[in-house]
Amino acid sequence: TERTFIAVKPDGMNRGILGNIISRFEAKGYKLVGIKTLVPSKQLAEEHYSALKEKPFFKDLVDFITSGPVCAMVWEGEQVVVTARKMIGETNPLSSAPGTIRGDFAVDVGRNVIHGSDAVETAQREISLWFEQGELTAWEPTSAVWIYE
Ligand code: GTP
Ligand code: MG
Repeated sequence: TERTFIAVKPDGMNRGILGNIISRFEAKGYKLVGIKTLVPSKQLAEEHYSALKEKPFFKDLVDFITSGPVCAMVWEGEQVVVTARKMIGETNPLSSAPGTIRGDFAVDVGRNVIHGSDAVETAQREISLWFEQGELTAWEPTSAVWIYE
């Protein structure tokens, strides 16, 4: 099964919606295998967003993500990469449907609360960038038989 990298950005942390976001992934049936809070270094942020380094908003993006606490997480489950992106919504919160995280909690593209990996390969890159192998926990929730047939 797949793993994806999810990060609640400093706006989501300051607004006190981390618990709501975690609850959505738990309620869906996905499994939390890694979690920590940190203020990302500029080096980590630039590496994380390296695909966007030519964009005009790159500096603002790095300044913002390093401006406060981030909750970095790894979630596991069937098709979790693409499904988490659906649960998150569009990059622009105003284009995100109600019921999605950005649709419910955000207005501005530069304050869109959460990051989610955009593909399986990206997820693998991001997980190894943000976590050491020993920080990830393989476990089998007793609920699994009620979530997967
Ligand atoms: P992430 O999950 O954070 O990676 O968002 P995304 O995959 O939906 O979008 P993308 O990777 O293209 O951009 C990364 C982040 O850059 C977004 O989440 C936005 O916060 C920011 N961003 C993207 N496009 C714009 C833009 O046109 N203007 C501004 N100011 N910020 C942008
Ligand atoms: Mg992205």
